[in-house]
Amino acid sequence: MAEYEIRALRAEDRERVRAILIERWTALQIVNHGQLYQADELPGFVAVQHGEIRGLLTYSIEAGQCEVVSLDSLAEGQGIGTALLTAVEEPARAAGCRRVWLITTNDNLHALGFYQKRGFVLVAVHRDALAVSRRLKPSISFIGIGGIPLRDEIELERTL
Ligand SMILES: CC(C)(COP(=O)(O)OP(=O)(O)OC[C@H]1O[C@@H](n2cnc3c(N)ncnc32)[C@H](O)[C@@H]1OP(=O)(O)O)[C@@H](O)C(=O)NCCC(=O)NCCS
Repeated sequence: MAEYEIRALRAEDRERVRAILIERWTALQIVNHGQLYQADELPGFVAVQHGEIRGLLTYSIEAGQCEVVSLDSLAEGQGIGTALLTAVEEPARAAGCRRVWLITTNDNLHALGFYQKRGFVLVAVHRDALAVSRRLKPSISFIGIGGIPLRDEIELERTL
């Protein structure tokens, strides 16, 4: 297994982080549950392999809850996504959060399986939530992964 280090995001990572966010999310802004996040300004964790960022998680702690705003692995199947999800528990616990939660979209069948295998449970399906998201970020596609209509948000959580 290739070795990598998981560490908190640093100021000097920001330029690379911006490039990753634009590549993976088409913009620095991410809209979840009707809230627009300036993702490049959020705290986060990175997976660093051979000096390169190979995974990025950003999060937001608000009202005693820790939301994973984005999670991207640039080297899948090596444990990076899992390790980043584990890492975010530390700041969440330190802030007194009772849960780590996140939103994924109805087309992301891989992520739905991935999260559930890591102890996340489905909390809610927010039907047509993407219609609200598109008002804040009109570039959001109408067609998602594998040609599935991109429509709903699915909320998952792992209690701490
Ligand atoms: C979802 C995502 C973050 C997972 O990241 P990842 O780095 O591939 O995650 P992991 O490597 O920890 O786990 C993926 C699989 O690899 C397997 N794996 C982990 N380490 C492994 C190893 N050393 N050898 C072989 N397989 C391994 C895991 O068992 C896992 O399979 P499983 O889910 O069937 O149990 C990644 O696919 C991704 O970036 N997707 C696109 C963006 C996205 O959808 N983000 C989430 C929605 S917001």
